[in-house]
Formats: sequence, C-alpha cells, structure tokens
Amino acid sequence: MLTLITVVSSAGGAGRSTVTAHLAAQLAHGAYPVAVLELDAQNSIGALLGLRETCKTGVLTPGVAPDGWRAVLRETPEGVPLLPAGRTDAPSVASFGQWLRQDTGGLRRQLDALGLPAGTRVLVDTQRLPDVIAQAAAAAADLVLGVVPVTTTGYVTQADLMTACAGRAQMVPNLTASNSSLNNDLLHLIRARGGDAIVPVRIHRDDAVGMAAANGQSLVRAAQGSQAALDIVHLESWLQRATAPDDGAGTAAATANVRARAGK
Ligand SMILES: Nc1ncnc2c1ncn2[C@@H]1O[C@H](COP(=O)(O)OP(=O)(O)OP(=O)(O)O)[C@@H](O)[C@H]1O
Ligand SMILES: [Mg+2]
Repeated sequence: MLTLITVVSSAGGAGRSTVTAHLAAQLAHGAYPVAVLELDAQNSIGALLGLRETCKTGVLTPGVAPDGWRAVLRETPEGVPLLPAGRTDAPSVASFGQWLRQDTGGLRRQLDALGLPAGTRVLVDTQRLPDVIAQAAAAAADLVLGVVPVTTTGYVTQADLMTACAGRAQMVPNLTASNSSLNNDLLHLIRARGGDAIVPVRIHRDDAVGMAAANGQSLVRAAQGSQAALDIVHLESWLQRATAPDDGAGTAAATANVRARAGK
C-alpha cells in the first residue's frame, strides 16, 4: 500500500517544492521507498532532484493525463522516482482537475498501477491553494503537509490553508529566522492559531537552500550539516512517525490518528 502525502500552501513561494524535494531525497538517502508526483504546471521540481533538462512529458501533458503514467515515471540523480508535470497548457490542466474532482479515487488508482514497492511514500507537490487539483490531491491524501512561511503573507493566508484542507493540514513553519523579533512574533502567532496541527519542527531560512537549488542537489548531498539540512532530517523523522503503520491494519488506519502519534 502506498502512503500519499500532499504538500500544500496558501502562500506562493512558501517552500512546497523545496520541502517536497528535500524530504523525498532524505527518505531516498535512508533507503526508504519514496516517489514524487508533481501536480504543478510550473514543471520545475525535477531541477531540485538533479535533472538538468526540463521534463517534456508528464502527468499534466496533453494526451497523457489521466492515463499512461508509467511512461512518464523517471529516475532522478537524487534516487527519487519522479512523475513530473511535464509541459502542459491551461485546457489540459483544467481537464485534469475535472477528472480528479469527478473520480476521487483516480489519483491513488493511477499510482497503484505503477507497481511501486509496498510502503512507498508518494510526496505530491501542488500549485498554491485555492486550486482544484491541489484540493483534490489533499482530499485523497493520507497526510496533508501544509507549508506556512513565517512571513506576514504566511500568517495572513494560514487560515485559508486550514479551511481549504478542512482542518486536515499538519503545518510546518518554513523560513524561520531566530534573529528577527518580527519573525519570532509571527511564528508565535502561527503556532497559536495552528495549535496541535503545527508540526514540532521548523525549517529555518538558510542560504544552503538556494545554493542546493542552484546546484541541482539535495540538502542531504550538497549541504549536509547546514541548518536547513538538519531541519529536513527532523522533519523526515516526524514524517516517519506520523505515517508508520502501527499494527498491520494498514496505512489509512494508521494515519487516521496521525496527529495523536506525531510527537504531540
Ligand atoms: N528554508 C528556506 N531557506 C531559504 N530559502 C528558501 C527556503 N525555503 C524556500 N526557499 C526559497 O524560496 C523560494 C520559493 O521556494 P519554493 O519554490 O520551494 O516554493 P513554492 O511554494 O514551491 O513556490 P511556488 O508557488 O512558486 O510553487 C525558492 O527560491 C527557494 O529556494
Ligand atoms: Mg513550487
């Protein structure tokens, strides 16, 4: 059985792709089965996983969606199998969204058909909410990971994120900066509003993130020991606990009480 983890945010540039790529690379580094599905027409996450060229075809490419996912699954230098968005256009994105909305089990069915190893965690990168595809992918997920940038925009849009995900989002603060009192105040407000749904890990603002992106390498490979790399290690441990099947009853059951077991 696959575990579907959808990464969302209501703020643009929140760090969804960054968190998705580095978390996936960290899991792959630890030899845990993982894959990334890109449901963002920007079609750019491949670069964060080490691909040098833009993926021409992917799940959002006209003529591919919703069939033929096996044909677009590709390996990446970071060891993370990737289903890229591929080149696309507005009508194709709209019809993909319509398909997902009408066929709520379709996403999981397509992923199951790929024959990925049992227990594979599939991390789904999305477009900024509100977005039909992101919302459908969140509804289908075992765990919804909301990235909340610790900025005024992040704080202002946090309520929208919580509403859009029907209260299911586990939120990780990103871009925290301990040396800024404004940032500390915003983090406090975000935590107060999120309560138990705030993941007990934060990701610091760190130049290593931009450097890793520029080099097309993950933090675990390019900047091990950096603050952001350590934050991703902690986030991965949290995710392992939050999505570990506990009693053989299956991932869905295990993740139903994810909040209770996620270190709270
Ligand atoms: N913790 C961090 N420290 C420093 N820079 C970061 C951090 N997180 C993200 N960034 C930078 O912020 C920018 C936006 O990040 P990213 O592309 O992951 O966000 P996104 O939510 O996927 O954005 P989009 O709305 O464009 O899809 C990138 O340049 C990235 O390198
Ligand atoms: Mg992105």
